[in-house]
Amino acid sequence: MGDDFRASFRVQSEDRLAFWAEQSRHLHWHKPFTKTLDWTNPPFAKWFEDGQINASYNCLDRHVLEGRGGRIAIFFEGEPGDTKTYTYSQLLAETKKAANALLDLGVSEGDRVALYMPMIPEAVISMLAIARIGAVHSVVFGGFSAESLRSRINDAQAKLVITADGGFRKGKAHPLKEAVDQALENNSCPSIEHVLVVERTKSEVIMSDKDVWWQDALGKAATDHVAVGFDAEHPLFILYTSGTTGKPKGILHTTGGYLTGASYSHRVVFELNSEKDIYWCTADVGWITGHSYVVYGSLANGATQVIYEGTPDSPNFERWWEIIAKYKVSIFYTAPTAIRTFMKIGRSVVDGHDLTSLRILGSVGEPINPEAWHWYHDVVGGSKCEIVDTWWQTETGSIMISPIPHAFKTKSGSAQRPLPGITVGIVDENGVPVKSTHDGSEAGYLTIDEPWPSMLRGIWGDPERYVETYWSKFPGKYFAGDGARFDEDGDIWLLGRIDDVIKVSGHRLSTAEIESALVEHHWVAEAAVVGAKDEITEQAVVAFVILRQDELGDAPNEEEIGKVLGNWVTEKIGAIARPRQIMVVSELPKTRSGKIMRRLLKDVAEGRPVGDTTTLADSSVMNAINDKLHEGATD
Ligand code: PRX
Repeated sequence: MGDDFRASFRVQSEDRLAFWAEQSRHLHWHKPFTKTLDWTNPPFAKWFEDGQINASYNCLDRHVLEGRGGRIAIFFEGEPGDTKTYTYSQLLAETKKAANALLDLGVSEGDRVALYMPMIPEAVISMLAIARIGAVHSVVFGGFSAESLRSRINDAQAKLVITADGGFRKGKAHPLKEAVDQALENNSCPSIEHVLVVERTKSEVIMSDKDVWWQDALGKAATDHVAVGFDAEHPLFILYTSGTTGKPKGILHTTGGYLTGASYSHRVVFELNSEKDIYWCTADVGWITGHSYVVYGSLANGATQVIYEGTPDSPNFERWWEIIAKYKVSIFYTAPTAIRTFMKIGRSVVDGHDLTSLRILGSVGEPINPEAWHWYHDVVGGSKCEIVDTWWQTETGSIMISPIPHAFKTKSGSAQRPLPGITVGIVDENGVPVKSTHDGSEAGYLTIDEPWPSMLRGIWGDPERYVETYWSKFPGKYFAGDGARFDEDGDIWLLGRIDDVIKVSGHRLSTAEIESALVEHHWVAEAAVVGAKDEITEQAVVAFVILRQDELGDAPNEEEIGKVLGNWVTEKIGAIARPRQIMVVSELPKTRSGKIMRRLLKDVAEGRPVGDTTTLADSSVMNAINDKLHEGATD
């Protein structure tokens, strides 16, 4: 594969568009395209515009029609230990019924459908059924709160929600339908006509007139469904993600280009042999990794994959390694946070299992530090697996920068090179390529310099924000929001976000969103949130709040305040956004123009001496915060 790849790399540099057209022809086109890219109105790209394609057909029907129907598509492992296997034929049959059930419920082409589901096969079936009829899915991670779900449903004007009575997490049934009820109460999501409910945990749920059991709807639905082609630029899904402002952005992906990027990257980065490999990506479908590498990329490539419902520690930390040994997983894709968690527990939980089937180990979501890389390589991979550190984003749709197995000598902590077909750069504040230094280059901003098939097509309902957020800082180039530098071999090292987006356990959060949740509480006058370095989760949320003394009532102590405000953030956004620490302060450090200096707060939160305070309007503020922290430490 390495040599083939180097050869195709040469081809693509000679003719990038022909290269992408060739990758795209690995898919089935209902109507072949004649035009590869229209970039006459940048940054609004149209890929394969006159072609017609069906994503669900590519993930299912094609394999069955070409004789692969008996191949296992999904080995499902429920958290309580129940298992279920779907061949491609069975997955297709279920998806056809689900597509018909959706049509019966009045969903049609272009309608949005929200998903709020556990990691069970029905989540995958739902996504493929929605795509099959040309509707648009918007998956909301099951860990988000009812309020977050409500705002996403309303932004997308979804017509239907698919959920489950619950999902198993950490040995318990985690309620989902209840959160949907809460999101919809008092007619707060008027666009919703029905809620489709999968029975998973058998938890008690209240079913209203709008609510329909999945099992009933599919039981009644016709079994056959013919997938028709949709225009390549037909919307496939919206996925909300955090930006630098308070409101999450609905990232829009369309069909032909997205599927090309997801399937191509899955094939080359994981060196997939769909007849032999057993693939497992641990991501939830609530995130882009679950979309591209649990659903679209892997199924379009006819892979056999494992889907596990629960958390890595259920019933104990042996679980993941038992699953790898049981199914003989050969390609494993997870996040550095998980690796660091296992590192802390110690290698004994891994060592007792036969992991010799592993061949390729992938990492995604945040920079992987060299120690975690080596542990992954040596302890999990038995020092014989290739590690692919894959850099990409919700917006890019598919992997942009990654080593290709056997094509490069990998380095611990570097994502290395853009994939063939992708052009990236690193520039300074003025958009000028960074200067070379004796060991590579200075640090700068990562850009993607030419359009690529799986690029986002916009922000749902806000074309201006799309242009402004991604394409205006460096005109003509996509600004990723990450810092990066080249080393002396020209390999890329990612340096983390340079904006107010933070990464907690690989999950993307916005400091502004958490701040606005905090100030919605009547106790809080002002809030500042920073991402502080954390040994396991990469970053952790640390909040500084100024309280409204007149609202506090019976003067709760700081611990109680922390608890109440922590619960509040969980309720407003979800448990993943809950601050690790909430510090009550009397003032926040601000510049003379009134901007909060988060850099200084980050110093405090990370226990460093506070940096330059000369631009502060009142330099005594930081002394007060520091003194307070000091008091806390000696208590
Ligand atoms: O900062 C980068 C980081 O994750 C951000 C994108 O987050 P999200 O849209 O949630 O997608 C995550 C899964 C693709 C990026 O801007 N990031 C992702 N992968 C890496 C990474 N940082 C360093 N190395 C990576 N391999």
